[in-house]
Amino acid sequence: MSNVIIVGTQWGDEGKGKIVDWLSQKAHLVVRFQGGHNAGHTLVVNDKVFKLSLLPSGIVREKTLVLIGNGVVIDPFHLQKEINELSDQNIKISSDNLIISDSAFIILPIHKLIDKLREEKKNKNKIGTTGRGIGPSYEDKVGRRGVRVCDLYDKDELYNKLSNLYDFHNIWLIATGEKKQDPDEILEKLWALGQKLKSYVQPSWLLINKFNRPSFNILFEGAQGTFLDIDHGTYPFVTSSNTVASQAGIGAGLGPTCIDFTVGITKAYTTRVGSGPFPTEDTGEDGMALGKKGHEFGTVTGRQRRCGWFDAVLVRQAVSLSSINGIALTKLDVLDGFEEIKICTGYNLDDKIINYLPSSEKQQKKIKPIYEIMKGWKGSVVGLRKINEFPQEARDYISKLEKLIECPIILISTSPERSDTIYINDPFSPN
Ligand code: GDP
Ligand code: IMO
Ligand code: MG
Repeated sequence: MSNVIIVGTQWGDEGKGKIVDWLSQKAHLVVRFQGGHNAGHTLVVNDKVFKLSLLPSGIVREKTLVLIGNGVVIDPFHLQKEINELSDQNIKISSDNLIISDSAFIILPIHKLIDKLREEKKNKNKIGTTGRGIGPSYEDKVGRRGVRVCDLYDKDELYNKLSNLYDFHNIWLIATGEKKQDPDEILEKLWALGQKLKSYVQPSWLLINKFNRPSFNILFEGAQGTFLDIDHGTYPFVTSSNTVASQAGIGAGLGPTCIDFTVGITKAYTTRVGSGPFPTEDTGEDGMALGKKGHEFGTVTGRQRRCGWFDAVLVRQAVSLSSINGIALTKLDVLDGFEEIKICTGYNLDDKIINYLPSSEKQQKKIKPIYEIMKGWKGSVVGLRKINEFPQEARDYISKLEKLIECPIILISTSPERSDTIYINDPFSPN
């Protein structure tokens, strides 16, 4: 029995939700440890589509307990909405299968407002955030003026904390000609919602400790992707949390020695939504074709995702940054029918070849990908259940990726449907 972390290895939307759902069949507890409802995870189970943002993807499995850990930022209004929407889809949600950490931070309406205003006020260089208040909420956390879930259960304390936070933000709002925000407008609503959510709330590290035993499997579900990480990503075009595997321990409440296996989720090509450097972006026909075949539209904002070829330099870097043991390769079917498939194997920077993503924003924008061209395959891999049924060229592509990213591929996904998944090695009991 073991503890497994799942992280995205690119810029998010790698298909983490599908893989978490698939692996949840073996997990007793599924834990979200960072991010918030900026995430958008689509699950397809027997033609039924589930869209999740804040709830861990294990929630659609009847017997799986899910936990929103302390490292997540929670918009309680959105959470209630998501619970209602899933209940409408016949997913039973109660304190028997959902736990919320009492030390997670809250996203308030003022955070959403600030997120939107900041983006509007930036003429150029917009980050292209999801507009959900993620950044401002994490800023208040490290600024030591945040409001936590546990604060929802003492009205005086809640009011004091809200007032302190609103006082801080009103200085900037007024100075930039915006309307002053009043904590009184939110207090009662927040209090009422807190009461509704109360049965889910616990000191979650205690629960994790109970499950961190030989008889249980815990699955840690990362959101976003490695290059949206606040430390390791394409800063400042990143999200405001750490998305790499080490965050699982911090955002859930256990130490690094408890982790047995880390799975990186990797799309067979690359996408990015929002602004920022993207060395293999293809704005021509191939990029259009990838977007069309892969239905590359964001779940959260509906924005079109930028598309390009596989970047082995990036994924190799992600493997190193999270000490990834095995890769789940998704959306291989989207490459069906391409005559040629390109793989980026290095970058050209000022006439020098480099094999890593430089840290400087300027250099990240300047680098040019160096491609190796592979022959595409005829026919389709959709729904195939064994790798030896794949066309030879598809098998060659997989072997090439493994070699370039220096990590074995342990799972392959060939359609959005839960069952179209090929298991090569089990992360819960790897051989
Ligand atoms: P996440 O944010 O990493 O969970 O990924 P998203 O759910 O935002 O985006 C992945 C999209 O690809 C979803 O619409 C999935 O249903 C879909 N998807 C996942 N795996 C596959 C696959 O192997 N093939 C195809 N064609 N679609 C997939
Ligand atoms: P999942 O879990 C893709 C991107 C936004 C923006 C940047 C900052 O579905 O993979 P934020 O609202 O977090 O401050 O926005 O990060 N972003 C994502 N892109 N998938 C996600 O999540 C993302 N979450 C945030 O588009 O560029
Ligand atoms: Mg997504």
